[in-house]
Order: sequence, then C-alpha cells, then structure tokens
Amino acid sequence: MSFEKTILVTGGAGFIGCHVAKLFVENYPNYKIVNLDKLTYAGNLENLTEIEDAPNYEFIKGDIVDETFITDLFEKNQFDSVIHLAAESHVDRSILNPNEFIFTNIVGTTNLLNAAKKLWENGFEKKLFYHVSTDEVYGSLGEEGHFVETTPYDPKSPYSASKASSDHLVRAYAHTYKLPVVISNCSNNYGPNQFPEKLIPLCIHNIKNNLPLPIYGKGENVRDWLYVKDHSDAIDVIFHHGKTGETYNIGGNNEWTNIDLVRMLCKIMDKKLGQNEGVSEQLITFVKDRAGHDLRYAIDSSKLKNGLGWEPSLQFEEGLEKTVDWYLSNGNWLDNVTSGNYQKYYETQYVQR
Ligand code: NAD
Ligand code: TYD
Repeated sequence: MSFEKTILVTGGAGFIGCHVAKLFVENYPNYKIVNLDKLTYAGNLENLTEIEDAPNYEFIKGDIVDETFITDLFEKNQFDSVIHLAAESHVDRSILNPNEFIFTNIVGTTNLLNAAKKLWENGFEKKLFYHVSTDEVYGSLGEEGHFVETTPYDPKSPYSASKASSDHLVRAYAHTYKLPVVISNCSNNYGPNQFPEKLIPLCIHNIKNNLPLPIYGKGENVRDWLYVKDHSDAIDVIFHHGKTGETYNIGGNNEWTNIDLVRMLCKIMDKKLGQNEGVSEQLITFVKDRAGHDLRYAIDSSKLKNGLGWEPSLQFEEGLEKTVDWYLSNGNWLDNVTSGNYQKYYETQYVQR
C-alpha cells in the first residue's frame, strides 16, 4: 500500500500523543502513522486499542535517546514529517529527578533533529518537524497579562527548562540548517487517558478511592485548562496550515485557581457517584507547596485563532464531566496504571510531603 506521507509521531502512547495518533490515523487514511514510544510509566498501549489494527498504523517501541536506533529508524522508514511529543512531562518528577528530563527532552529531541536533517539533506520540500511544547517555557505570570508568542523565555522548573532548551534547539536547527519546523506551546491539558499524577486525574482517582486531595500551598495558583481533544485538533490545524518557522500558542482561555477547580470537580464527582454534595470536598487537604511553584499561566492564542481559525470547542464544566465519565467507566485502565510503582511514587510525593 502506498501512502501520501509517512509521519513519525513520538510519544504516541502517552496522554496527548494517543489522541494525536488516533486523530491522524482515523482522519487521514492516506497517511501512514508510525508511533514511536519508549513505554515509560506514562506510556500505555491500552490508550491505542481503537487503532492498533488500522492498516495505516504501526507501533514501534524505542527510546529517542538512543542515537543509533533513531538514525536507523529514519533511514528505514523515510519519514516525511515528525510530530514530536515524547517527553518526560511532570513537574514534580522533574524536581525529584531532573536528569531523566535532560536526557529525553533535550538529548532525545536533538537526536530526532539530527536524524531529520540527515534524512532530508537533499531537499526540505514537503518536510516538517513539528515540535509540541508547553507554555511553561515562558515562566510564571503575576495577576495580570498573558503569554504571547514573543514573551521571553524564563523557565523555572527542571521540566520547563528542559522543554525550553528543546524549543531553542528546534529554532536553532531552523535558523542554522533551514530545517522546516513549527512549534506550538500549549497550556495545561486535561481529559481521558491522562496519567493520575497530574492534578485532575489524581483528584478523580483519589475521590474514587476515598484518599486525600493534596492541594499545594493555598491552592491559589492559576492554570489555563484545555480539553485534550481541542489540543489535538489544534495540532492537526497547525500541521496542515501553520507557517513553517512559526510558533503558535494554544490555550483554553480558561483560567482557574487550583482550589476552585478541585471544588468544582468534587461537585461533579459527588453527582456522578450518587453521593451528597460536599462529601468529596471533605477530602481536600492543604499540603506543603511545590518547590518553586509557578503562580499563574495564561495563554493568548489569538495568533492561532485569527490566523488559522482554531478555537477551543468545549466549556470547562462540560469537558470535566466528560473526563470524569471516562475515568469512571474505565476503572480497569485506572487500576492498571496505578498498580506497580504508582503506590511508591504516590507515597514519595504526597504521604511524606
Ligand atoms: P505523557 O507523560 O503523558 O506522555 C509522554 C510519552 O512519551 C509517554 O508515552 C512516554 O512513554 C513517552 N516517552 C517518554 N520518554 C521517552 C523516550 N525517551 N523515548 C520515547 N518515548 C518516550 O505526556 P503528555 O502530557 O502527553 O505530553 C506530551 C507532550 O506535550 C510533551 O512534549 C509535553 O511537554 C507537551 N505538553 C503537555 C501538556 C500537558 O498539559 N500535559 C501541555 C503542553 C504541552
Ligand atoms: P499539574 O497537573 O502537575 O500540572 P503543571 O504543574 O504542569 O501545571 O499541576 C497543576 C496545578 O495543580 C499546579 O499549580 C500544581 C497543583 N497541584 C496540586 O495542588 N496538587 C497536586 O497533587 C498536583 C499534582 C498538582
């Protein structure tokens, strides 16, 4: 079977990556999607059952830090494009162990850039290296203002510093070698398939299991939340219509303090579990703040909206309800990902905090 394009998606077994992989496999049968993932604690093939037998899909287990493996993979598959999502993605883990973030996010990204540059050295026409990044590279906002694409980088955590470094490398390859790249920087995602270490799925899991809901500090930190399928739609739009060399901010225009968000989630959980309103809120527990905790993120995505016509489609409450429904009807998924080392991580993070 011959395909119009062969696209490498990295990190496609993770939270956002699985939605991107599914969208591209299902909406573009004329593209071959090769999903490369190391299957770390965050990667899960159960996220991909809908597409595992699709004729335009292939999964390959592998590590982007392994330079020889990556060079050979590009040579063998002759990729036209890369959508790069593989990363270590959790701020708290980056505080515990920054090194893994340096290897995967910086060295891994550089290996992919080198392999793309080598494979495409005879011509960049119709080639694209799409780097998926975060708004956390811009640092932390005060009470006012929004991140725009020209906001100077000021990352504060080992995670955001490693992502900022990878963004700089992608831009350096575009400038120095003319590699055709595009970057998007997105705000906090939520939705189905997110590993229960991030705030929303962690709280859903803990309410379900009658465990404390750990709120760092006073719960006054603000995040701008976007439903994961809106993010994957934005990636689709930017992949097909974005201008090479450009950066696009993606955000939900949806700012919440952590405490208000968790209270709303508690109400939804009470309703869905058929219990009295107020029961879940009793689990809220204020704990020691995260080291170097960024106060506020808020994204201005008007460049994407005005230039390419993308906008978030879901109201937050609706998105949260869909998310809760997914977790409650996928109890096996949640049980599987919280077996093994999860309990150990949970104890390090929260019980001893
Ligand atoms: P995730 O942690 O859920 O998934 C990451 C995936 O990458 C996993 O499947 C993992 O197995 C894989 N991976 C990790 N190291 C690898 C390696 N060395 N080689 C190959 N695969 C490896 O992350 P996510 O939340 O889906 O984030 C995906 C991307 O989007 C990341 O680049 C992240 O920085 C970015 N991002 C995330 C958010 C968010 O709110 N989650 C927001 C903006 C941007
Ligand atoms: P998180 O989901 O880890 O995303 P990020 O740190 O990338 O923004 O955290 C979202 C917010 O919730 C952040 O301000 C930290 C806070 N938080 C808690 O208060 N308790 C928790 O258990 C977690 C995981 C996060």
